[in-house]
Amino acid sequence: MIKYIEETTDYLKDKGFEAPEIGIILGTGLGQLLNNIEVIKEVSYNHIPNFPTATVEFHKGKLIYGKLEGKKVVVMQGRFHLYEGYSLQDVTFPVRIMHQLGIKKLLVSNAAGAINLDFKKGELMLIDDHINLQGGSPLAFKGVEQLGSRFTDMSAPYHPEINSKLEAIAANHNITLHKGVYASVVGPQLETRAEYRYLKIIGADAVGMSTVPEIIVANHLDLPVAAVSVLTDECDPDNLKPVNIEEIIQMAGKAEPNLILLFKELIKSM
Ligand code: HPA
Repeated sequence: MIKYIEETTDYLKDKGFEAPEIGIILGTGLGQLLNNIEVIKEVSYNHIPNFPTATVEFHKGKLIYGKLEGKKVVVMQGRFHLYEGYSLQDVTFPVRIMHQLGIKKLLVSNAAGAINLDFKKGELMLIDDHINLQGGSPLAFKGVEQLGSRFTDMSAPYHPEINSKLEAIAANHNITLHKGVYASVVGPQLETRAEYRYLKIIGADAVGMSTVPEIIVANHLDLPVAAVSVLTDECDPDNLKPVNIEEIIQMAGKAEPNLILLFKELIKSM
């Protein structure tokens, strides 16, 4: 793994990805932040050595280096998911690369279903804690201790200071920002009614198919991280309508301007 990390980082440094300060992962349907970035360099995932080979969903997947609010950022447009057949180590490899490139903070976004029915689609949720239901750990491999502590502490996986800042920004701009627990499932099938009931009982406020592996690896690397879910559907088991993935992606796009504002103001304040 160390050799792969060095090789990939050297490649990106050669391409001009010099000393980014902040890493950003953009979730499904969330790409408009890029319109706010002064792009300096961009590379398709399938040109980056050792990156998982981009699937159909992410034939457009790109790593972007540029400036946002005067800060040097590296942005993942599209992420890798377990449901595409990658391993948890594959899915989180880009986090290790951004860390090696020098980022000091990581901001993560995703599209998620609202389990807490006080939360409505189109609203945002600051992830305060999570439940890993993906059946594995991105840290479960030989040699992990060469990159960080094997028994990584997860008592506060989402950086409290960044979270407070995001809450203050949301309040100042009249943006509804719920706070809650995100449960990660493998997918790609959506949940059954019984599964939505189960998720509520175990304490989840939102459910999605990503993010938790990246958060675990950020903690493994002692990299301060925060994550925001864009709520795209309401998961009411007693009133469940068929979920349409196009609608989910559309809803993510609709709520995205608030997410962009939060991230931009946060970066400005950093
Ligand atoms: N379940 C799982 N993942 C999701 C959902 C959902 O309801 N909505 C958006 N991503």
